[in-house]
Amino acid sequence: MAADRTEPTIDFLSGAFWGRDPHEDLTWLRAHSPVHWDGNVWGITRYDDVREISKQPDLFSNAGGIRPDAGPIPMMIDMDDPEHWQRRKLVNRGFTPRRVRPSEDRIREVCDEIIDRVCERGECDFVWDIAAPLPLIMIGDALGVAPEDRQTLLEWSDGMLRGLTGDPAALGAATEAFAGYTEYAGQVIADRRAEPRDDLMSVLVHAEVDGDRLDHDSLVHESLLILVGGDETTRHVISGGGWQLLADRSRWDRLATDPGRLPGAVEEMLRWVSPIKNMARTVTRDVTFRDHPMEAGQKLLLLYPSANRDEAVFDDPFSFDIDRAPNDHVAFGFGSHFCLGNSLARLELRVMFEQLLARLPDLALVDEVEPTCRAANFISGYEAMPVRFGPSRPRAGLSS
Ligand code: HEM
Repeated sequence: MAADRTEPTIDFLSGAFWGRDPHEDLTWLRAHSPVHWDGNVWGITRYDDVREISKQPDLFSNAGGIRPDAGPIPMMIDMDDPEHWQRRKLVNRGFTPRRVRPSEDRIREVCDEIIDRVCERGECDFVWDIAAPLPLIMIGDALGVAPEDRQTLLEWSDGMLRGLTGDPAALGAATEAFAGYTEYAGQVIADRRAEPRDDLMSVLVHAEVDGDRLDHDSLVHESLLILVGGDETTRHVISGGGWQLLADRSRWDRLATDPGRLPGAVEEMLRWVSPIKNMARTVTRDVTFRDHPMEAGQKLLLLYPSANRDEAVFDDPFSFDIDRAPNDHVAFGFGSHFCLGNSLARLELRVMFEQLLARLPDLALVDEVEPTCRAANFISGYEAMPVRFGPSRPRAGLSS
């Protein structure tokens, strides 16, 4: 990738910057302007700097919100310690290894149901028929959403996410989606308070650490963060990772003969796709960082896709290597806000590809041209990816 070219015009907040492949510009920035002011925000492009800033919340705070063009929301990701830590401890009750590990069987069952629904057709859209349903069903079940309401949940999640990009046109729909979710969650919270079940919402409603509990508003906001944080992100890694395996069939074949390589391949999918394009921090006092004077109140963006292609850290960073080791990517962030759902997301990714390799072994791309990503400045990925395969029967005893 050429780093020697004239200075590109950068606008980190424009959806268009992220919708087309931004890597040529990001490579140029890492080489020539690694801490870059685009007129609105600072962009942090190098791996070491992303980690360094993530370790200094007193200087680079989350309390101004994770989006540079929208204010904070009362959820843990928009808080600094000790308030953040207090919240995180409570929500973490729902994400302990003891709670996440047993979900492997349920994830496999859901993957099989997803494949059952398409296997007789011989073709489908990988994004909407395969990748999207898994995180949606897992999070929907965890939050107590009835199966017939999952589509509405998807619309709310999408509406709220678009509202977080600061686009005024998206704000009305986001407010409506938030109102819809708040009412729905309110009912689930009341139900679980009265009658706990074996789901995440029940754990959150009844979680207590050092005498502290999540009140009603915190339950609504933290469950919303789980929905928005875990739905599209995982979908985009399944579809972006799937493309990489199918575009160069030798990768798919190697995994088919040796599925033990899948955990490594999943890490490479996370590094490669980096579905969260950036998280914002707010400068808390005037400071000079890498010779750049920054003013209190200015926003900076931790550019994860750039950090994950940093040639100072990753050998041959533009090659997708299922055997890459080490692979200390920052797709899940770094520091005290490191993704709470990382074990669940990794499990969903591994099990989905295990089932696809086993049940649709001849899965192939219909189109050789790489799909485009949605033009969004926060979370984005493929919007469609047609695939085909030899038709097969659903599992015995089940109908599609
Ligand atoms: C491939 C999928 C995912 C990716 C790439 C991802 C990425 C991230 C990133 C970059 C952060 C912020 C880290 C920081 O600011 O330092 C984060 C935080 C978070 N994620 Fe994820 N995430 C994924 C899946 C999930 C899932 C499945 C859930 C829940 C079910 C989840 C829940 C959260 C929560 C609650 C936080 C806030 C943690 C805090 O503020 O302490 N994420 N995630």
